[in-house]
Parts: sequence; C-alpha cells; structure tokens
Amino acid sequence: MRRPIRLNRSFCKKIWPGAPRGCPDPRRLLDAGISDREANEILITMKIQGVFKTTWSDRFPETTRLLANRSIASPPVILDVGASDGCTSLSVMQAMPFSRYYVTDRHIEAHACTTRKGIFFCDDEAVPFMFANRFFVIYNEPHETSRAQSDIVGNLFAGFDMAKCREVRKVPLMNRALLPRLDDSVRLQRYDIFQPWPHEQADLVIAANILNRDYFADAKLVDALRNLRGALKDHGTLAVIENRPAEQSNTFRLEHGRFIVEDQIGPGSDIQALVTGLS
Ligand SMILES: C[S@@+](CC[C@H](N)C(=O)[O-])C[C@H]1O[C@@H](n2cnc3c(N)ncnc32)[C@H](O)[C@@H]1O
Repeated sequence: MRRPIRLNRSFCKKIWPGAPRGCPDPRRLLDAGISDREANEILITMKIQGVFKTTWSDRFPETTRLLANRSIASPPVILDVGASDGCTSLSVMQAMPFSRYYVTDRHIEAHACTTRKGIFFCDDEAVPFMFANRFFVIYNEPHETSRAQSDIVGNLFAGFDMAKCREVRKVPLMNRALLPRLDDSVRLQRYDIFQPWPHEQADLVIAANILNRDYFADAKLVDALRNLRGALKDHGTLAVIENRPAEQSNTFRLEHGRFIVEDQIGPGSDIQALVTGLS
C-alpha cells in the first residue's frame, strides 16, 4: 500500500528543488494551464473505492498484437471496461481497426471541493477519496496505516460535507489525448462492471487490470463476468489481462453462453477457471 499521508510534490520541490519527491499535487488539475503530461501523471496516482487508476500507454502489447493479428470479417465493436484514463485504449485503437470503441470506467470524472483546509476530491456519489493542501496529499484509506495516522485520516474525511464547500468543480479523469478523439465511433461512457451493459453488444470486451482478486471477492467477479458476457455477441471475445508486473492474459470465445479459452499470454489470467466455469 502507498502510505495514505504523503508529502505534496509542489511543497517538496520548494525544499528539494531538482529532486522529484512526494505525490503529484492533484490541486493542479484545477489549473487551466496544466500540461497533458502533468495531468496524466496526477490521474494515475488516484485510488477510488479501493481501486487504483494506475495505467500507462501500451500496457499490454502482446495481447494487443494478438487481438490485432486475428483475421476478422468486419471491424469489431470494442468495449474496454475499467479503462482508467484511456491511454491503453488509445494504444489498442492505434493497433487495430474498429467500427466503434467504447472507453468506459466507473469513474470518468471527479468533484474537486474547496474547503478551508484544502481540496477534497470526491466520486460521483460525493464520497471523498483524496485530499490535498499545500503540504500533504492524503488518501481516504484509514485502515492502511498505523493507529496514529489512521485517526488523522479517519477524522479528516469523516468531517467532510460537500454541501459546506466553498466551491465544487467537475474534473475529467481522462487522458487529455483521448478527449479530442471522442466522436460517434469513439465513445466515453461511465460504466460500472457490476451493472448490465446498457448499450449495443460488442464483438470484443477488454478487461485489463480490473478483474482482480486483490480488488474484488470471487462472488463479485462472477457478477461482473455475467454482465460482461451479456455485453458480448455470441462468438465474441473476452480478453482478461493482468500486469503482475509482466503481462499475462487469456482471450476467451463466447460459444452459446459458455466461455472457451482461445489464447494465452504468459501464465494466463488468474481468474481463468472462474471465466470458463461461469454458469
Ligand atoms: C488499475 S486500473 C486499470 C486501467 C487499464 N485497464 C489498464 O490496464 O491499465 C483499474 C480501473 O478500474 C476502474 N474501476 C474500479 N471499479 C470499477 C467498476 N466497478 N466498474 C468499472 N470500472 C471500475 C478504476 O476506476 C480504474 O480506473
């Protein structure tokens, strides 16, 4: 676990100029002049409801190559779930043709709420997941630390009330290079894998670094897999990818409601048996 209380990099730069230390300052997301690079660097340090937004460009090149090299009759509809800021989606878009690409995540924007103490960052349900002031960046993870720090973190977030904030602003949690690509064929959707997919069925569903036993219990993973099965056309493909840290994945073909292993990279997905055993 990254420690929940961390020094703010903006503050560290003043003390140790030239030696980048501390956590990138999420308050910078409110600055219209922020560079794309800096914004992306901040976004991938966020952790919301227990799941990091960690990602990077071309994170799973072997699986991407495998999917791109398959002979397909017509360009597929692709659904990418838990895509974080979408930079890996951009890499897949570059590698293969598609008729429509849905870049989705449970958290595609946050609320930045200014208070006297500093700025709280909240999810769509007004639950704060991060706080920053001049000195510190603090994650709402009170259970991940010593008793003394846990009390500080617990009290800080327990006292938060969005209705009492001086200002509340929406902040996109997406890669700045993705935003100009959005049109009819590249769509950004808020989507929670624990809900049925409400749009057109896809030929390919990509689930990378989200169907993870460190994040969700097996019963929840099974719920999510049922929803992803519902999102796929029959004979469609589900790619389940993990970087631990080396890339490992499986692709599964949906045949009459059952998933069959098609291909494997490295040792394959940790949840291969859950996928093939799905009733
Ligand atoms: C570790 S990132 C993986 C990003 C990208 N797929 C990759 O492989 O680099 C996990 C993402 O899953 C998202 N997430 C967490 N819970 C989710 C849910 N219930 N439904 C959809 N996305 C979720 C998080 O917001 C986060 O962006």
